[in-house]
Amino acid sequence: MNSLITMNDLTNDDIHRILADAEKLLPVAKGNLHLPLLQGKILGNLFFEPSTRTRMSFETAMKRLGGDVVNLGAVASSSVVKGETLHDTIRMVDGYSDVIALRHPLQGAAQYASDCANVPIANAGDGAGHHPTQTMLDLFTIKQAHGKIENLNVVLVGDLRFGRTVHSLSYALVRFGCKLTLVSPESLRLPDEIINELKEQGGELEITEDLKPQLENADVVYMTRIQKERFPDEDEYVRVAGVYKLVADDLSSVKKDMIVMHPLPRVDEINPDVDSTRHAAYFEQAFNGVVTRMALLCDMLNIPIPEKIGGEK
Ligand code: NCD
Repeated sequence: MNSLITMNDLTNDDIHRILADAEKLLPVAKGNLHLPLLQGKILGNLFFEPSTRTRMSFETAMKRLGGDVVNLGAVASSSVVKGETLHDTIRMVDGYSDVIALRHPLQGAAQYASDCANVPIANAGDGAGHHPTQTMLDLFTIKQAHGKIENLNVVLVGDLRFGRTVHSLSYALVRFGCKLTLVSPESLRLPDEIINELKEQGGELEITEDLKPQLENADVVYMTRIQKERFPDEDEYVRVAGVYKLVADDLSSVKKDMIVMHPLPRVDEINPDVDSTRHAAYFEQAFNGVVTRMALLCDMLNIPIPEKIGGEK
């Protein structure tokens, strides 16, 4: 693999291989084993939008594997405020690094950056577009819980229109034969072009506004935040804010191994009383960002993962 812009850059075999590599790297991600596979390599972190998990887990992944990171830092203290274009920033940073993680408010920015850069670009979120590295950690989390990523009932909930995590994830899940139930207010439905493409790929989709009846049959319930920052006007946001709120009592008759996921940050979609149920998987999911991005970085930098990774420290 070179750049990772959308899930189309990975075949199903690539996905399975990277998930298997990530699993092998678990002791390294937990700090129990020192494995400097990326020594001498530098990641350029370019985050033009807020980020906690994605930026920090990319950085942790790089450092756990002995590599290093250079950061754009706050946009306000970079040359972007002097009017530097994305093109010029990328051309600069690709001289300072071996791989770039880019988050940008504009859909299409990651593809554009990859066209300008000499080093591979990992799309860490482009506006309301895609977020493929998140999808890889989501798939890893699903596989850890269910032992597979094939043929599951997955309920995607919330802002399916502006939420880039669910865009990338829905493409991947359909490729593995999962059935998707799309739960959102009418105004925040998955965009038509995505629905059409998923259907062309044979995707089995159900569209509804009603969350509660979907819980019983679900293997995965994937909650998302309403993406306030992408709304053209505040009134429109206020109309849909707080529309879905999952509480522990809602989970009384769900499947025993059903997992509740969320890319985080949450606002009020998941009540904290869900955290202590057996179903809550979102903090584990956030940790899985490290191990999955380790495997992705090795793949993008063409560094093979050893067949066997030795004992604990
Ligand atoms: C998501 C994002 O940035 O798209 N966050 C993340 O990467 N974990 C989800 C969100 O911001 O709602």
